Amino acid sequence: MEQLSNYNMPRIGEKAPEFKAVSTQGEINFPEQYIGNWVILFSHPADFTPVCTSEFMTFAKLEDEFTRLNCKLIGLSVDGLYSHIAWLRTIKEKIEYNGMKNIEVKFPLIEDITMEVAQKYGMIQPGESSTKAVRAVFIIDPKGVIRTIIYYPLSTGRNFAELIRVLIALQTADNFSVATPADWQPGDDVIVPPAGSCGIAKERMDGAEEGITCHDWFFCTKKISIEEITEKLKS
Ligand code: BEZ
Repeated sequence: MEQLSNYNMPRIGEKAPEFKAVSTQGEINFPEQYIGNWVILFSHPADFTPVCTSEFMTFAKLEDEFTRLNCKLIGLSVDGLYSHIAWLRTIKEKIEYNGMKNIEVKFPLIEDITMEVAQKYGMIQPGESSTKAVRAVFIIDPKGVIRTIIYYPLSTGRNFAELIRVLIALQTADNFSVATPADWQPGDDVIVPPAGSCGIAKERMDGAEEGITCHDWFFCTKKISIEEITEKLKS
């Protein structure tokens, strides 16, 4: 087996590494099977652990919202398939947490005992643990390109509002050719591309471009309503 240090960390803007894997929902051929969908591929350290359980329940509760955003979920840990099945059954049958109960995890959870997939995605970070994956999140676009990478340590559960916010921000950037400022939430003003010429910079500062507000020539914003964002997502 290759040494961990021989594996590159994947990077934003690169094609998501390919893999075939066994999961709780059957075999996965990634990214081929998912082209046309956004994907959140995430790892967790271990089955039958409390932080991971709280995260899985929350992912499962929010799955319909991710589906509305054309986003499929895929989980992964270095545990085996039977452990995954037993844990997901326990979650459904026994765990009540934070107002959630009887939660069925319907998205696939990959078994990765050999750590082959985890290593490809830089999910094993030996300073944190050489036997468990950290809490990695890869947001991958419908063309199979990595668009966001977030890593959390073992002790910190993910913020799901932030995952949804980033997904909507990426889709808004793609659909409207804009960027989103600090703490942006859907419905807030977005940032228009910088002026590409002195003439446009002057026009913007003179207020000649309707609907655009400029804080300076390089920093201009406009409104995009939640309705426009939602409408575009449907098309
Ligand atoms: C947890 O999910 O609770 C957990 C897993 C590994 C290390 C620490 C916490």
